[in-house]
Amino acid sequence: SIKTLPVKTGSVRAGEIFSSRLGVLTATLGSAVGLGNIWRFPYLTGSNGGAAFLIIYLICTVLVGIQVMVGEQMLGRAGKGNAIAALRALAPGKAWWLVGAAGVISAFLIMGFYSEVAGWVFAYIFKSLSGSILSTDPQVTTQAFTSLIANPTQSLVWQWIVLAVTGGILLFGVTKGIERTTKTLMPVLFLLLILVGIRSLTLPGAAQGLTYLFKPDFSVITADTFLEALGLSFFKLSVGMGCMMTYGSYFRSDQNIPTTATRVALADLMVSLMAGIAIFPAVFAFGFKPESGPSLLFITIPAVFASMPLGNVFMVAFFVLTAIASIGAMLSLLEVIVTFFNQQLGLNRKLSVVLTAAALAVFGSAAALSNSTLANVKILGLTFFDLYDYMSSNVLMPLGGLLISVFIGWIWGYPNIRKALSNEGMLKNERVIGMFFGLIKFVTPALIVIVLLNKLNIL
Ligand code: PFF
Repeated sequence: SIKTLPVKTGSVRAGEIFSSRLGVLTATLGSAVGLGNIWRFPYLTGSNGGAAFLIIYLICTVLVGIQVMVGEQMLGRAGKGNAIAALRALAPGKAWWLVGAAGVISAFLIMGFYSEVAGWVFAYIFKSLSGSILSTDPQVTTQAFTSLIANPTQSLVWQWIVLAVTGGILLFGVTKGIERTTKTLMPVLFLLLILVGIRSLTLPGAAQGLTYLFKPDFSVITADTFLEALGLSFFKLSVGMGCMMTYGSYFRSDQNIPTTATRVALADLMVSLMAGIAIFPAVFAFGFKPESGPSLLFITIPAVFASMPLGNVFMVAFFVLTAIASIGAMLSLLEVIVTFFNQQLGLNRKLSVVLTAAALAVFGSAAALSNSTLANVKILGLTFFDLYDYMSSNVLMPLGGLLISVFIGWIWGYPNIRKALSNEGMLKNERVIGMFFGLIKFVTPALIVIVLLNKLNIL
């Protein structure tokens, strides 16, 4: 791989870019695929009417998620820097860079709770290896999970381990850290997911789980469902918070952005569906309830695995693949904060990585302690964990996505978009660009506004 291949339009300030098109794909897909697919997608689908939710989620992904992803990658590459630097360069003297600043806050909020859930996943790899969570009795698995999350020391230590691992990878930089790790790990993730999926599908009674996942029940759809689906599509595709702008700044000038974004979204959807296929048939086969919320992964799943032959092997595989997924996503979340220290404050990259991990250990501890020491501290009726989650997915990311689409469609304008997405005329993708422009200018922002107003009971 070529480490500092200059980008034709000028190299990024960090001096590094993804060295190959495959590297761009695995890094970007690594960001999108994460706990969102395995922890969040199944329980949201499970508690919001199965396929009815899936349909709404698909609409949000096509009309909002993919468009914002294309837009962000385009701005990041054109502006040659993280979200703040790129927006400053593309709209000098204007306040648009604040969208990038809000993205750094989102990265803190998401990492705050995400690193904690990833910590549980890491812990569960060891617990499934030792067999200590292998029980068919949900009461036992509930007890195992509650005692983990209610223990302040364990919660903090697992979170720090997660931060140390991901920070450690980032010390190697963009090419040798992010690109190389995702190139190696993404295929492993796919293989393990297929393995667990086949096991689940071949269980007697699996069909019921598939029916559940694919047969729509529209009677449970409310205004909240739409906000959840929209929030999920932002969270899933890592958009609305500058992450894809940061990654876009590492794209080569000959990268076809609309194609890349579409492929990433498709592959990400496939992972979500495969996770659903790995989980729901097994849940039904052993008579468990699918709609058990965020604890599905840590309470129901262990009991499900314990019920099947060779369950412990599949359980280890399952938590390893979940850990891999979470790492790719966290690399991109950390990178947003690292580039803030690096490009905005001018610190060197290694120091920026260390500061990022340290800052997150402090900020994240409030989420880590949300089920123990700080369980009774509530803001707006939410624990820190839930507050970080809600503020990022359901408030900051949709607002960020709205502002980014408005900026692109109404301020940056068609000539700039055309130049950027055709790679300065190298690609003959006029129709794709036209479609993107129409969506990002009218459809994407309108949909976000409708969902947000609807939620506030204004519509
Ligand atoms: N896309 C990741 C997931 O679905 O797990 C989460 C995420 C990563 C959100 C990076 C935002 C982000 F910038």
